[in-house]
Amino acid sequence: MSQPDYVIDEMISAKTIAARIEDLAREIRETFANTEKLVVVGLLRGSFVFIADLVRELDMPVEVDFIEASSYGDSMESSREVRILKDLRGEIGGRDVLLVEDIVDTGFTLHHVIELLKTRHPKRLETIALLDKPSRREIDVKATWTGFEIPDEFVVGYGIDYAQRNRNLPHIGKVRFLENPG
Ligand code: IMP
Ligand code: MG
Repeated sequence: MSQPDYVIDEMISAKTIAARIEDLAREIRETFANTEKLVVVGLLRGSFVFIADLVRELDMPVEVDFIEASSYGDSMESSREVRILKDLRGEIGGRDVLLVEDIVDTGFTLHHVIELLKTRHPKRLETIALLDKPSRREIDVKATWTGFEIPDEFVVGYGIDYAQRNRNLPHIGKVRFLENPG
């Protein structure tokens, strides 16, 4: 599939992300100090790098599960209608759960998944998003923890894609389209 030409400008370095995750992990550890085994749920696919780094900083017993929701498809616009493409493997009723998201943009995805997980009656449900674009919000939702608030830019890297590309970039970069590709 062909795409317009673009370049990626670094926005948040791998080092800065790693340092922030250490702090977030400490706060999560304190919040769930009495938890026997935390269920860490990654929202696929964008959170896979973040969840991998986060759980390795969490000095406590964890279980890892994944859920996949439809979002942008291959476009740059949110679909607003959220569908569950892959459900959790495990039960979360009566458990302490941390939902891990890559970016909160309009908020529809996080809102929908939170409401779905709540119907299963977890003992406690908290959320963490690596990135938040508050200026884009269309539905009132906020993660318990946010790594970085960013302006209204389309970003890639560290698990996050543009049309399934650039997920393997070690840092977060912003996409800049070239007006005169050549
Ligand atoms: P929301 O439902 O509008 O909050 O969108 C959330 C989802 O859209 C995220 O989980 C991302 O997968 C995707 N998304 C939002 N902003 C960006 C971006 O800047 N780059 C790539 N994907 C994004
Ligand atoms: Mg996503």
